[in-house]
Amino acid sequence: MDDSMLSCLTHPVYAITGEVASQMGIRAFAVGGVIRDVFLHRTSKDIDIVVLGSGIEVAEAVAKSISDKIEVHCYKNFGTAQFMYHDAKIEFVGARKESYRPHSRKPVVENGTMVEDLKRRDFTINAFAVALNGNEKGMLIDLFNGLQDLHDKIIRTPLDPDFTFSDDPLRMMRAVRFASQLGFRIYDKTFKAIRRNAERLEIVSMERVMDEFNKILLSPKPSIGIRLLEESGLLRYFLPQLLDLKGVEYIEGKGHKDNFLHTLEVVDKVALASRDLWLLWAALLHDIAKSRTKKYDPEHGWTFHGHEILGSKMAFSIFRKLHLPANEKLKHVQKLIALHLRPIALVEDTITDSAVRRLLFEAGDDIDDLMLLCEADITSKNPEKVRRFLDNFAKVREKLKEIEEKDRLRNWQPPVDGELIMHTFQILPSQPVGIIKTTIREAILDGLIPNEKDAAVKLMIEEGEKLGLTVVNPPYGI
Ligand code: CTP
Repeated sequence: MDDSMLSCLTHPVYAITGEVASQMGIRAFAVGGVIRDVFLHRTSKDIDIVVLGSGIEVAEAVAKSISDKIEVHCYKNFGTAQFMYHDAKIEFVGARKESYRPHSRKPVVENGTMVEDLKRRDFTINAFAVALNGNEKGMLIDLFNGLQDLHDKIIRTPLDPDFTFSDDPLRMMRAVRFASQLGFRIYDKTFKAIRRNAERLEIVSMERVMDEFNKILLSPKPSIGIRLLEESGLLRYFLPQLLDLKGVEYIEGKGHKDNFLHTLEVVDKVALASRDLWLLWAALLHDIAKSRTKKYDPEHGWTFHGHEILGSKMAFSIFRKLHLPANEKLKHVQKLIALHLRPIALVEDTITDSAVRRLLFEAGDDIDDLMLLCEADITSKNPEKVRRFLDNFAKVREKLKEIEEKDRLRNWQPPVDGELIMHTFQILPSQPVGIIKTTIREAILDGLIPNEKDAAVKLMIEEGEKLGLTVVNPPYGI
């Protein structure tokens, strides 16, 4: 008997499950990613336990032996049950053979053996099991040389890849995700099968596809995964707009940069500095409209006028199609895309206070992310140019800090609002209200008046009078 593996499985649920399952005469195994993560020295949040019997009955018995208070969630259709214990989600399932009918999203589940169960898993590095009781207690079961593949850093399916992928086509995304997350290589035969089966990704729900894609974006070097998605043909089933950025066109000997490769570089640079998923999405989509705005002008060369505005609109439809959140996360991404040229435009002119004020006003709390995105956007191969841009950005950052301290413009609301204007002149919502508000806002942003209530009220009265209005209720202090 070898119980060396058990010493690595430190969560208390393993020992309890071993004992309870033995009392029930049922064999239990820890399986899947949790064992892989032991070898990779990663911590995993979820624990999967497979039993040769009813997963639901074992889960209920284990939970009861811990405490009456544990709430067990059962999913009878799938024969699984789960509960939370010591910060981990523990899932129990009976060993099974599971397959997807070729055109359906619903798995067909049958009872199986442990060998069957492991065979039906996605990759050799995820097809380990450790026995929690019985004669083999503590033993590692590695039927497909997963340890060797972990050592060689290879993603490979335990069975014929066509078969494994037809069981669940999401696994093609998972192969790319593990390659990107762990820096592993996808085995040649496995990769060819992904190419052959890519189209079957269409039967997988978008939420599951996005779960994997977001993990790719959050991996240390997302370009590894995105390139694999492109090379395997998977990308075009969910984000074809990115493929439109590929390639370089030449007219009169002048070419533009390959915007697909540029985008990958920007995403990688952002990933080095941040693990904010939505900032990574903004980096991915910042130039998404370049293919649709591209024009050649004999005088100015290649132009992409308005790509930041169209790109921000495209982000909306892309998020909707991909079932990504349609709330403030989307707004944040849209704002970053729409403003991504602004800091560059700023350094091309002399950096005036009023331009910095405007940027702060428009970007609000997104200003730090915007600056990070813009710095990442500089992918020139000319070191002199890069140095100049980064020096200028440093100046912009300094100026931003200075103006922010002085004017407190982040999330700023002008000191005079529509209510006060309507009350002062006793008017209803109307065009003059908008005109006065805009005049005050512009005057503050241009530095013509200080960002203070008295100055703003004074200007409101002057502007109102210019528009033929009379002060009926003088504001407090005037
Ligand atoms: N699995 C599978 N096919 C899938 C999903 C999962 O065969 N489409 C198996 C694998 O054995 C996997 C285990 O179920 O290791 C648990 O899956 P999951 O919790 O989704 O992923 P992990 O491999 O644990 O990886 P991570 O925690 O990083 O998501």
